[in-house]
Parts: sequence; structure tokens; C-alpha cells
Amino acid sequence: MIDKKLLKDSYVLHFGDAEPRFFCAPGRINIIGEHTDYNGGFVLPGAVDKAITMAILPNGSEYVNLISVDHDDAALFFRIGGPQPKEQWASYFYGVIEEMRKRGATVGGFNAVFGGDVPLGAGMSSSAALESCIGTALNTLFDLKFTKQELAKIGQMTEHNYIGVRCGIMDQFASIFGRKGHVVRLDCRSLEYQLVPFNPKGIEIVLIDTMVKHLLASSEYNVRRSQCEEGVAVVKKYLPEVELLRDVTMEELEAHRSELDPVSFKRCSFVINENKRLMDACAAMEKGDFEEVGRLIYATHDGLSKEYGVSCPELDFIVDIAREHKSVLGARMMGGGFGGCVIALVRKEGVADYIDDVKKKYQVKFDKDPRVIEVEIADGAREC
Ligand code: GLA
Repeated sequence: MIDKKLLKDSYVLHFGDAEPRFFCAPGRINIIGEHTDYNGGFVLPGAVDKAITMAILPNGSEYVNLISVDHDDAALFFRIGGPQPKEQWASYFYGVIEEMRKRGATVGGFNAVFGGDVPLGAGMSSSAALESCIGTALNTLFDLKFTKQELAKIGQMTEHNYIGVRCGIMDQFASIFGRKGHVVRLDCRSLEYQLVPFNPKGIEIVLIDTMVKHLLASSEYNVRRSQCEEGVAVVKKYLPEVELLRDVTMEELEAHRSELDPVSFKRCSFVINENKRLMDACAAMEKGDFEEVGRLIYATHDGLSKEYGVSCPELDFIVDIAREHKSVLGARMMGGGFGGCVIALVRKEGVADYIDDVKKKYQVKFDKDPRVIEVEIADGAREC
């Protein structure tokens, strides 16, 4: 986590000698269940020990004054109810406030300094961390009484309506509900969830960032979502009770294959299989069978790469190297795709070898260094 003193010093410098309160919200990993959330399926994320942290106090006005330490202490202000700021980082604040107001809340002005150590563009949801941090802070400071579920939705709708990404609920939910030592098995339709202990003996989570920024991510993400909706629309003609891909079996999809564009068919079949893989992985975890979890994780990568079309050569390369290492149980790209990082489950004794091998070969092949990100599964959004 970023040093709170840094935020405090900047707060005092810009807003005067006050005692701000501090809130933080983490980024996330996801064990398995990718691109299932907006299809009403299941996901298995965990919050991590990398977070956005904020020093904040109400200021009694109708203005929001912001300082971003990650943008060299850039300053910005906007009036609540006024036009949306052009800068994306300020739009997260604007969006969360507007979504709260739509739900009947009265949000007052405030001063805030924020920053974080969630790696940007690594597929670890730094934006959901920011939304969850803002939501949690405003809910507390203005006593708004939103439930945690509502805060997650407010973050998700901020992405839809003010950032332009029609994301699912996984990232915001994980950032808010995460618990140290646990992953969250979330039903993205009902929002029912279970905290599942995740502490496999002798196995480490390794994240390797390709350092490829996912530029295509938001436009292609929305395209994937439309392709899934296309599949639902076709099946729904025959099975009106179908609302989301979650409700469709492979047999039902196959039955209407000829009516679907072949690309959309591939996308939909990935999602249906991925939801099944998550169920199988949960069953295997219950039995402590992490070899099987690993096999499913590899299968997820193949699906994301070949059927869903959201991988890239750098991600595929890091996963292929993993396949040569017996100690790697499973590896796959994580998050929306088109860059970001690979998540791997690796036996402790083989971690250093795998990382060294990737570093050497990646440098030769792509002429740049990957970044290894160390994470632990940690608690969700809170006053800190
Ligand atoms: C991004 C989105 C999530 C989810 C993942 C893919 O992180 O924000 O809602 O769809 O991609 O699983």
C-alpha cells in the first residue's frame, strides 16, 4: 500500500492543516471464471494487498477538489451536478457521485488526495479499486447507508455511464467484499457469494505482467459483450425463459448454430464452457486437487486465446513457457485481456526457475522485460 504519510503531506500542503480520514480499496486477482460475470455466471476473484488509498474530508461546499499523487500531484476540481470533467481520473469521482445522486443520496463537496500501488494496465482492476474507494469513503463520510452490494453496482455503473466500458460486477465486488486468505465465489446474477479459504499448501500465486497496455481492451470488450448478447437473442427465440448465457447449455447453443454468426458462436461457447470450468475448479479445490485446478486454468487460457480472442502473443508466450515447467500447475491470462498479466499457480520450489526462465526468454523474444508482481490475498475496501 502507498505510504499514508505521503498522502497526508500532500493533503496538508494543498488543503491546509486538517486531520483527513483515510480509506483504501484493493485491486483483485481472479483464479478462474473470465468474461463470465456480464453473462450472469460465476467468478472466483480475491482482493490483493495492492490498493488505492485516499485522504479525504468533506469541505462544506458543493465543490470536489482532487489531487492525484500518481499524476504528479495534478489538481482538479468540479462542481457537484455540473459538467463531467474531461480527465478520466476525475471522471471516476464524478461518476460515483452521479450514480449515488441517481439513487437519491445527497453528497456534499470534499477535498481528497489519492494514489495507489495497483499496477496500471496489468488487468488487476485499478479502476474498480478507485471506484470502490470513493464509494466507501463517501458512504461513510456522508452517512449514505448504501449496502456493500449497492456500492459495487455504483462502481460498475460508473464504468458503464461515465467511462464507456460495459463491464461486469466482478472487479468492484471483489474490491469491496474481499477477505484476507479467501477468494470470493460470486454468482454474478443473484450476487450471492461465499468466501472460500484459499491457501493451498506449498503453492504460490505468481503474476507476470507482459507490460503490454491493453489499448484495445475497452472497445473489444464491448464487442465481446454484444456477441454474447447476440447468442442469447437467438436462443431466446426458442427458449423465452433464457435471459443470459448463464441459462444456455452447449446443446442448446449447438442446436441453433446455423443461425449464429460463426464468431459469435465461438464466443458464446467459450462462456458456457468457462462457467462449467469454474464449477469443476471449485469442486476440485474442495478436494484439495490443485493439479486439476491447474489443468482447468490452462484450458481457460486456451479458450480465452482461441475462442474468445482476447489474448495476445506476449500472454500466450508466458503461458507456453509455463507448460514446460512441471512445477507450474496452471497459467492463464487474467482479466479483460489484450495485455496485462498472466496468473500462474506454481509449486513453491519451482517459482524462481519459472520466473527466471520467463524473464530470459521474454527479453530475447520481445526485447523488453516483463514485470513480476508479488501479491497476497487481502481484505476489501475499508477505512484504514
Ligand atoms: C474486466 C471487467 C470485469 C470482467 C473481466 C473479465 O476486468 O471489468 O467485469 O468482465 O474483465 O472476466
